[in-house]
Amino acid sequence: MKDHIASLVLQSLAQLGTELALPSDIAAKIRIDRTKDKAHGDFATNVALLLAKPLGQNPRALAEKIVAALPQDSAIAKTEIAGPGFINFFVNAGHTAAQLEAMLKDPRLGVAQVATPQNVVVDYSAPNVAKEMAVHHIRSTVIGDAVVRVLEFLGHNVTRANHVGDWGTQFGMLIAYLEKCENESGSGLDLSDFEAFYREAKRCYDEDEQFAQKARSYVVRLQGGDQYCHDMWQKLVTMTMEQNQRIYDRLNVTLSPKDVMGESLYNDMLPQIVADLKAKGIAQEDQGAIVVYLDEFKNKDGDKLGIIIQKSDGGYLYTTTDIACVKYRVEHFHANRVMYFVDSRQHQHLEAAWQIARIAGYVPAEVSIEHAAFGMMLGKDGKPFKTRTGGTVKLKDLLDEAEKRVDAMLTERGSEYEAAERQQIVHDIAIGAVKYADLSKNRLTDYIFDWDQMLAFDGNTAPYLQYAYSRIKSMFRKTELKPGAIVITSEHEEALATKLLAFNEAVTNVANKAMPHLLCTYLYELAGTFMRFYEHCPVLKEGVAEDTARSRLALCALTAQVLSQGLDLLGINVMEKM
Ligand code: ARG
Repeated sequence: MKDHIASLVLQSLAQLGTELALPSDIAAKIRIDRTKDKAHGDFATNVALLLAKPLGQNPRALAEKIVAALPQDSAIAKTEIAGPGFINFFVNAGHTAAQLEAMLKDPRLGVAQVATPQNVVVDYSAPNVAKEMAVHHIRSTVIGDAVVRVLEFLGHNVTRANHVGDWGTQFGMLIAYLEKCENESGSGLDLSDFEAFYREAKRCYDEDEQFAQKARSYVVRLQGGDQYCHDMWQKLVTMTMEQNQRIYDRLNVTLSPKDVMGESLYNDMLPQIVADLKAKGIAQEDQGAIVVYLDEFKNKDGDKLGIIIQKSDGGYLYTTTDIACVKYRVEHFHANRVMYFVDSRQHQHLEAAWQIARIAGYVPAEVSIEHAAFGMMLGKDGKPFKTRTGGTVKLKDLLDEAEKRVDAMLTERGSEYEAAERQQIVHDIAIGAVKYADLSKNRLTDYIFDWDQMLAFDGNTAPYLQYAYSRIKSMFRKTELKPGAIVITSEHEEALATKLLAFNEAVTNVANKAMPHLLCTYLYELAGTFMRFYEHCPVLKEGVAEDTARSRLALCALTAQVLSQGLDLLGINVMEKM
């Protein structure tokens, strides 16, 4: 409500703007305070007193002008000018209550669908074939999926694009090694340990010249469309993505096999792209390679930096693929917006590809291409997150460990469940905690992976929010009373009401800025506001009038719904009992 009143005052001042020379930071200067005495209304502002002197005006006269220019608003019952020039606002309590009641009846909880849905392509997860999912893939997967859920909830038409690293010269070596394994082990091939598979393939390649020769010939055959090599390649892709799909499912991530649009998809388009860029005079030959020089990219001596799009041996590069990829997304999906959830270290690479695509006319100016970059995940020592021996942390191991810790935690808390129920709860808390730890930080910064912090039942964590939800649910199990008409009487009810009504804004912000932490912060604040309300405003205690109890129950029910919906948009489950 404070923000709402501040915006009304600002509108009034803007209206008067032509006759007053307002300071540029006026928006930040407007303070709306809660009144101490209800006889003076609910809120007051000293803005007229503040502005009178610099504007050379009489404060009361200025207050009158401001009041006269206030827009009509159903939330405000009346205004008064008090003392030397305070403006008092009397809130229309019925208005807030009516908004809350409408929200409670609305399955979308007051979050409207957008009037003009966009075609949004979201590039996220993007693991590499025959490799373990690395930490930056986890971040991309979890953050990207939350934004996808929010965009879809708002009614946008979303295409999930899993830009899997499934092409490149390494496939010669991988096919040769897969062949070797198949010959040696028959059908009993186990590829679950990709790290070892990749390492061994590389070792053979480096140490065995005959193997290396075969690997090189397989690259050529694969690129030439040879059936055998293609089948072997397909096997590697399928095995990798089956394993990754199990992780997506376990993580409650909405990606599915049909979303795989790997680098190989663009392969056939590359010769055309290079020819076109040459024909348009954008690319030129330089020592046998094909290079694009961009004004925007200079080295430290101020010379233009060349971006190679075809090597002298004819091979294409990661950048060439991304040029084709963005072109395809615009043409094939009619994208209005393309979002890339990719490690911030790839920023220059992406910018270069998009710049070239724009210059070539593949991406119209009105299409927004965004790098939703993110920092690194660090260990508690502040160094990149690694296993004790310095290897990549396997996501599967990480999730196993999370479940083990949650299981122990539940035992310690003495929580009792049936076996199946317990398994589900352990899963939901563990996955929720790991995901939320990532989602709740501003993605642009590096963040420290800390088990104790993310599993705590207090603080900005998933278990805290899940607990707040289950606590409300348990309240409803203890009473026959049903939520009733909402009447806002106290400061704590008012604070909770204001927070609840801000859900729409929090969700919209996530979509606009591609920043799920804004929703996390909102939910955390909502849970905190609820806990304070609950402390000060008894619901089911003896002596509370039934109407009051039912009004408060309505606020509780709405809080539970917002928590559950908000967490669902983050891909996190809630539980009735905890
Ligand atoms: N596969 C890449 C990696 O592992 C990420 C791909 C990101 N998306 C893109 N269009 N380049 O780093």
